[in-house]
Amino acid sequence: MDSLRIHDIRIVDGDLVLRPMTEDDWPLVEAWNADPEILYFVEGDDVAPRPTDEVRAIYRHVSRTALMFIIEVGGRGAGECWLPDMNLPRLLERLPGQDVRRIDLMIGDRSQWNRGYGTRAIRLLTRLGFEQGADAIFGCDIADYNPRSQAAFENAGYSVYEVRVAPGPKGRRRSYDVIAWRA
Ligand SMILES: CC(C)(COP(=O)(O)OP(=O)(O)OC[C@H]1O[C@@H](n2cnc3c(N)ncnc32)[C@H](O)[C@@H]1OP(=O)(O)O)[C@@H](O)C(=O)NCCC(=O)NCCS
Repeated sequence: MDSLRIHDIRIVDGDLVLRPMTEDDWPLVEAWNADPEILYFVEGDDVAPRPTDEVRAIYRHVSRTALMFIIEVGGRGAGECWLPDMNLPRLLERLPGQDVRRIDLMIGDRSQWNRGYGTRAIRLLTRLGFEQGADAIFGCDIADYNPRSQAAFENAGYSVYEVRVAPGPKGRRRSYDVIAWRA
């Protein structure tokens, strides 16, 4: 996979804009992926930042089945969000024949946390997913120590689908899958 698959969807909601992620965005994306505090919430404790070529390879691969956006606040890149097809067999096998997707996001600029932008980005992507035919959309593997993420999904209309207990880097920990159904 040589480059990101680019789409042409741009969503404007006041000072918040979701615009297509492009190959020009690597400096932003790589900085966020190297921030230990972001990694802690996205991946867990003690996770070393991935080398930049690995980050690019993952994003390019995910873009095959995902709409990938940069979240802009006031015209500046503040984060990213993805709307991929569901890729987790444990969830897919329980919703056979349904169009199931997921949302992944990070507000990479930590000075913008807790200002409602995550909630709004989830709302916008959820609306887009349902407009495109999704039956259900998940937020996946939200760590129990990440109530900010849980609250943002709940604010956007999601509810808990399953609580799992799985081995983590520092013992067993709980994580949440949350779901929104098409109305
Ligand atoms: C998770 C994330 C996307 C949320 O976006 P955000 O813009 O910061 O969140 P919002 O401001 O929209 O909403 C945050 C909510 O969490 C609540 N909150 C924040 N800290 C909290 C805490 N310690 N306990 C409980 N609730 C908390 C806020 O009060 C707010 O809820 P409210 O609007 O009902 O008051 C963003 O913080 C982020 O990118 N974090 C790092 C990466 C990450 O965790 N990604 C998701 C992985 S599953």
